[in-house]
Amino acid sequence: MSSAIRTEHLSKIYPGSASRTPALADLTLDVPAGRVFGVIGRNGAGKTTFVRIAATQLELTSGRAEVLGYDVMTQARDVRVRIACVPQESRPLYFLNVEEVVYLYLKLRGLDHAEARRRTTEALDELSLTEYRRRPVQRLSGGLRRRTLCAMVLASDADVLFLDEPTTGLDPIARRQVWDAIRRATKEQRTILLTTHYLDEAEALSARLALFERGRLALSGTPEDLRARVRYPFRVTIQGAYSAEELTSYGRLTPIEGGALVFAREPEARELARRALERGQRVSMGPVTLEDIFLEVVGRAIDEETPPAEAEA
Ligand SMILES: Nc1ncnc2c1ncn2[C@@H]1O[C@H](COP(=O)(O)OP(=O)(O)O)[C@@H](O)[C@H]1O
Ligand SMILES: [Mg+2]
Repeated sequence: MSSAIRTEHLSKIYPGSASRTPALADLTLDVPAGRVFGVIGRNGAGKTTFVRIAATQLELTSGRAEVLGYDVMTQARDVRVRIACVPQESRPLYFLNVEEVVYLYLKLRGLDHAEARRRTTEALDELSLTEYRRRPVQRLSGGLRRRTLCAMVLASDADVLFLDEPTTGLDPIARRQVWDAIRRATKEQRTILLTTHYLDEAEALSARLALFERGRLALSGTPEDLRARVRYPFRVTIQGAYSAEELTSYGRLTPIEGGALVFAREPEARELARRALERGQRVSMGPVTLEDIFLEVVGRAIDEETPPAEAEA
């Protein structure tokens, strides 16, 4: 499978950053073409830095990065015509309306009038923006503005799309619309690099994932690869009273509301589920979620703040 994005020993230290702590450190990563690649990590993990370097908006400090075989530093023009990017912080041209801003973006990318019109109509429809098409962008809510940005990028003819937290601030329905549009875009064999701190989103959309922690690549691979890397790849929930001593013998026990959650290897998980069922307890068993994996690898939840002392280190 060919690579859409490839980095080798990529590092980034922001100039003037007091601590000289790298925002990215020795990152070697291969993003295969034609799929959704999810980059997950807590705030400050380096996701946006990675996107901005790959999208030629930011210079790297050392190592190399290429997109579709073009070096982001020496062949930036070749990269730029083949990518489209929804930046994490972005302000579309405020004086235009939704339809104009999408259309203009496509025209600027070199599409002819008819093609730009067709793609604009299609994208607005796909993201349920048709009813807002005449509304000036400056009068849109934050959520509609993000959807407009997604429409611009997804409507483009770029081969590699960068979506940096595209659904942050969207309501659940709007999130699903963006998900559907992303899924459709990958049917066209395009590569989508998606960063998100919603692990359910990353899990639902990504063929492969990379977990960044403090600028380093902590884990990467298909969801199955990630599961295979953790000590306990299965989770069993049991409702009702339980003996902590008994459950601990199967794996790692976490008390939950009204029962217990046990992380275990497959044979122990099956055995535990069977026993609990025999006792007439309510049981569910399945592979660990991305959230479970994150917690095990990073040692804390994705939205948990880094303590101040550590953040300064
Ligand atoms: N323009 C900048 N100048 C200095 N430091 C920055 C800048 N942008 C980001 N950083 C730092 O780089 C690290 C990675 O940030 P970022 O890539 O934005 O992470 P994420 O997108 O995962 O939240 C953080 O420690 C952040 O404070
Ligand atoms: Mg970010």
